[in-house]
Amino acid sequence: MIKYACVTGADRGLGLEMVKELLKKGYHVFAGKYQQTWTLLEDLKSSYADQLTIIDLDVSSDESVKKAANKILEKTHSLEVVINNSAITGNNMSVLGDELNYDEMLKVINVNAIGAIRVTNELFSLLKNGEKKWVMNISSEAGSIGDCHRKGWFAYCSSKAAMNMLSSITHNNLKEIGGQVIIIHPGWMKSWLSGKYHDEGPLTADIPAKKIIAMLDTLNHAPEEHPLYIDYEGNSLKF
Ligand SMILES: NC(=O)c1ccc[n+]([C@@H]2O[C@H](COP(=O)([O-])OP(=O)(O)OC[C@H]3O[C@@H](n4cnc5c(N)ncnc54)[C@H](OP(=O)(O)O)[C@@H]3O)[C@@H](O)[C@H]2O)c1
Repeated sequence: MIKYACVTGADRGLGLEMVKELLKKGYHVFAGKYQQTWTLLEDLKSSYADQLTIIDLDVSSDESVKKAANKILEKTHSLEVVINNSAITGNNMSVLGDELNYDEMLKVINVNAIGAIRVTNELFSLLKNGEKKWVMNISSEAGSIGDCHRKGWFAYCSSKAAMNMLSSITHNNLKEIGGQVIIIHPGWMKSWLSGKYHDEGPLTADIPAKKIIAMLDTLNHAPEEHPLYIDYEGNSLKF
């Protein structure tokens, strides 16, 4: 039987690497395309023509998410896993007392937090028909309120904390039907996040991607009381 998965923000970075890992595992992947200039997703089509469906997906737009869900429904009525990976950072330098850009903060929260619930809710009917019924939310250690140390990053950290809470509420719904939410910090990666390439991080995205997608086979199937909040190596984080 074909297993279906959906990954948002799949044009490059962690999203793209997770798509590759899912394809290697035999999943049919609905890969959310947001970036219009990069073609790495399209390049994968030459090896995985039948397993990969690229769908336009702007997680900040109700209309785009509905359209994407309808595209998925043309192919299947069940999904094993939805991976909410899309994110932006916004300004991360400003500290208290600086001029803060509240419109930008709302945008960051709309993409990173509300984007995840917008996608999950729209795909809920398909998740219900899947065997696993998993939602993997790519959050960050930056979303931990208990371990907060930054003085800037107002929007990004708040968006990831909000994503964590939305994940908990989603989990309370999903666990009743045997599903599970897993909130994941992928580690500090070399990345294009925030629009320009940063190579300070010790990890390349393929390393956490392998470990995250391996969790589909290695983690317990039975739903836990709460969502898991773990790093890419499976270590628990503080909410
Ligand atoms: N990099 C790290 O060290 C790190 C650490 C902790 C957590 N994370 C998390 O890991 C995930 C992947 O990050 P990454 O490093 O791989 O960065 P990335 O390459 O920038 O991946 C994020 C993807 O989301 C896309 N996106 C932005 N706005 C979107 C929208 N409205 N709708 C759909 N997609 C949208 C981005 O497109 P654009 O490029 O056009 O913006 C990009 O393709 C994110 O959730 C991030 O918060 C990363």
